[in-house]
Amino acid sequence: MENSSWIRAMFEEGERLKKAYGAESIFDFTLGNPIAEPPRELKKELYDLVVKETMGMHRYMSNSGYEEVREQIAAFHRGNSGLPFTKDHIIMTVGSAGGINVALKALLDPGDEVLVPSPFFVEFMFYIENHGGVMKLVETGGDFHLDLEAIEGAITEKTKAIIINSPNNPTGAVYREEELKGLASLLSRKRAEGLRIFIISDEAYRKIIYDNTPLPDAFGLYDDTITVFSHSKDLGLAGERIGYLAVSPRIGDDRSLIDAMIFANRILGFINAPALMQRLVGRFQKNSVDVAGYQQKRDAIYSILVESGFDVALPRGTFYIFPKAPLEDDVEFIRLLQEHRILAVPGVGFGRRGYFRLAYCTEMAVIERSREAFMEVGKLFR
Ligand SMILES: Cc1ncc(COP(=O)(O)O)c(C=O)c1O
Repeated sequence: MENSSWIRAMFEEGERLKKAYGAESIFDFTLGNPIAEPPRELKKELYDLVVKETMGMHRYMSNSGYEEVREQIAAFHRGNSGLPFTKDHIIMTVGSAGGINVALKALLDPGDEVLVPSPFFVEFMFYIENHGGVMKLVETGGDFHLDLEAIEGAITEKTKAIIINSPNNPTGAVYREEELKGLASLLSRKRAEGLRIFIISDEAYRKIIYDNTPLPDAFGLYDDTITVFSHSKDLGLAGERIGYLAVSPRIGDDRSLIDAMIFANRILGFINAPALMQRLVGRFQKNSVDVAGYQQKRDAIYSILVESGFDVALPRGTFYIFPKAPLEDDVEFIRLLQEHRILAVPGVGFGRRGYFRLAYCTEMAVIERSREAFMEVGKLFR
């Protein structure tokens, strides 16, 4: 529990400060809980679904989810990848958090190792440990891209999977095609030597991408790929808990793995993903919340940080930014930010000391109002 989450700890500290000083005067960048509302057409569809009263729409179903919804999603992936996806390659899940747990439950034996490029979304550690796995962190390069040599060095005969997350929480990095190809050829080489390692590609932020940065389709690059999607961020449905797993049609002996995942969905107690939300999202695979609005916020926070003298990489996706802390001790720096009414999460909470994360999925006015406070902090280090 002590390790449970810096994000939550900072969020709670923020609540205390807001009570003490008033919410208006606090700049809260702790939680990735987006304020963007779902698209209008989606809300309309939700209303129509509810008033239509289709018989049986609240009942149990197949553990993998409604066939017609899985078919709609398979069609989306056929279009994206050119691969022969069918509904049988799709499992509806309780968000991507549910999906990752289902995949790990199906894949891991006790003691199996899962590689995670760092900095990383800290929940991965708990998910891996839920299923008897051992997380092995692999540092990314200076610009938060994959370090293939480090990944190769971390592989042992117990390595079962690598979880990649692009666009990345907390860094905003979007992995390039050549680095993913490099990863694929490394894992293919290992496969030829008799070691089968799966890629679990967490694409919770796949639609929140800026500057026309290309997002390579993971399925085209490596056969043993399972991707995890979420509609928490792209459709603004985080509290509704809906996402899905898609398994590459090129995975060998795919049926036993897919059956194991469907079984895991059941025995982890999910049974199936929420029925109403499944019916809702099938038609909205190509829609998303206002990404241009997020891009404006990205530009605003980035320029505030640069003007204030911070060393920071420009995020290409998500709604997080991960600047270098000007103090070696990032937790001490977070306390200093708090003195200036800025709430952020220390890099240690993502496995990288000396940095901090800001979640800018907040009102533009909060970002703009924070400018002066960042400038004050920046001045202390000039
Ligand atoms: C990288 C990453 N993966 C998964 C999740 C979980 O998303 P979901 O709400 O779909 O379970 C999050 C949520 O913040 C995330 O940042």
